Amino acid sequence: MAAPSHIAFIMDGNGRWAKRRGLPRKYGHKMGTEALERTVKAAAELGVKYVTFYAFSTENWTRPQAEIDYLMDTFRDFLKKGDKYKDDNYKLVFIGNLDRFPSDIADMARSLVDRTKANDGLTVVIAMNYGSWEEITTAINSLIAEKVASVSEEDVKAALYTAGIPFPDLVVRTGGEVRLSNFLLLQSAYAELLFTDVLWPDFDKNELIRVIDEYSKRERKFGGAGGGDAEA
Ligand code: IPE
Ligand code: IPE
Ligand code: MG
Repeated sequence: MAAPSHIAFIMDGNGRWAKRRGLPRKYGHKMGTEALERTVKAAAELGVKYVTFYAFSTENWTRPQAEIDYLMDTFRDFLKKGDKYKDDNYKLVFIGNLDRFPSDIADMARSLVDRTKANDGLTVVIAMNYGSWEEITTAINSLIAEKVASVSEEDVKAALYTAGIPFPDLVVRTGGEVRLSNFLLLQSAYAELLFTDVLWPDFDKNELIRVIDEYSKRERKFGGAGGGDAEA
């Protein structure tokens, strides 16, 4: 099978990575940001067209305030590198409700989208304050506000944060947990799912090659009979 065009990552295991080294959880988040940057570069080199990263869920606000504050600072550090992404020809997109973030973060994110929208290289989607339930609820409310009598599947797709972005071919979760944690539930309806014990801060180009190789061995059937076998 062809290489996946869109890979979505549930970047899990930062806290455990740090804990195993006797370090505070924040070091895991710091190294996790480096893993994200490595993976973006590797994905571009390997010809992937879209990557999505689950950076902060709608449920992650329940974490201790000190950890949330540290994560906000890592987002600031990431967003400050905006011009580098512009020069690397990446197109940055954010999914999730940015309004809940401190305004400097939301402003930097929107500015980065604007500054990179003409780029035609790898599309990098960052899911921040994202949750599938919040997304579908927001989508339904926007459709109600348009006073439509009924909606088509296309209308629903266009009302999601991911409008215009092809659905993921492959969803990879690091960190060993086998669940989706409210991530791209509709968009992953026919995605291949891959769970690895590798902790996110250890993810690198070799791991990316390994997951693409695993994907290439899968048979996607989309409800069909599969196997190219026409016999009943
Ligand atoms: C993922 O790593 C990063 C975020 C959710 C922001 P975790 O912080 O969940 O790390 P573990 O799962 O506790 O190891
Ligand atoms: C999922 O990881 C969210 C992100 C990677 C941003 P969590 O660590 O929050 O998920 P649960 O709580 O283990 O399901
Ligand atoms: Mg976790």
